[in-house]
Amino acid sequence: MKKYLVIGNPISHSLSPKLHNYWIKENNIKAYYEKKKTNKDEIKNLISNVRNKKIDGLNVTVPYKKEIINHLDKLTPEANKTQSVNTVFLNGNKVTGHNTDIRGFELAIKKINFDIKQKEILILGAGGVVPSIIFAIHEMGARKISVMNRTRSKAENLKNLFKEIIVLDWGEIPNCDMIINATSVGLKKEDKINLDFSKISKNKLFYDIIYNPVKTNFLKTGRDLGNNTENGKMMFIYQAIAAFKIWHGLEPKINNDVIKLLEE
Ligand code: ATR
Repeated sequence: MKKYLVIGNPISHSLSPKLHNYWIKENNIKAYYEKKKTNKDEIKNLISNVRNKKIDGLNVTVPYKKEIINHLDKLTPEANKTQSVNTVFLNGNKVTGHNTDIRGFELAIKKINFDIKQKEILILGAGGVVPSIIFAIHEMGARKISVMNRTRSKAENLKNLFKEIIVLDWGEIPNCDMIINATSVGLKKEDKINLDFSKISKNKLFYDIIYNPVKTNFLKTGRDLGNNTENGKMMFIYQAIAAFKIWHGLEPKINNDVIKLLEE
């Protein structure tokens, strides 16, 4: 029986086990997938267990997507560029870190037919998922990528990875074609971002990485101002599909049951 884990802290909210176990069953694979609340000092041992095949793969979530890199033997080019790993697997004898958040974001944007080419994009936040979003948006040909974070220095640090970004002060929201909430504000239903979005003209895209709750106040505001909105559900599903493919060598299907799993 193969064993897969998602590690992070907190981890109780993670829906990855539901999704992966559904696909494992659907494809008659002899495996199981669990979540494990993990302390920083446990990471080394978990990676050793991947190396000696006691564990067959890991997903990594907040706050360890960067930390885990210290323990890995090898990174894919995307994981290296973003310094962010969400999927670990044994490649030959090398414990390898991959970043499937990038592909997840790209496919989610393609699915809603939003063309990022030549667009001006504003990202709110500078936490763990932001390098992956910048990477994807850059690949898709955006004209301008601006980042705004409550703690400005963290946004400035992203310039070490991506010279092309523009860092703005928290507060001055310019007009743009797409605004992305990559902060954790919205995870609680009553959370509100203390920013004024009224300078964004109509028919733009408000995108929230959060998918639970389904409609954050950020998305509600966007809709009330006359914009299109999208949450992070499909990004989450697509990053999981990419991880599943790395581990099991086949691409699981999205159907209504899969979508429902994330809505319960
Ligand atoms: P981490 O910062 O540990 O990587 P994360 O969940 O990936 O964690 O990121 C949280 C993001 O939400 C950060 O950009 C954080 O801003 P700070 O860097 O200033 O902490 C942002 N965030 C959290 N609470 C916020 C709030 N009340 N207002 C604005 N931004 C907030």
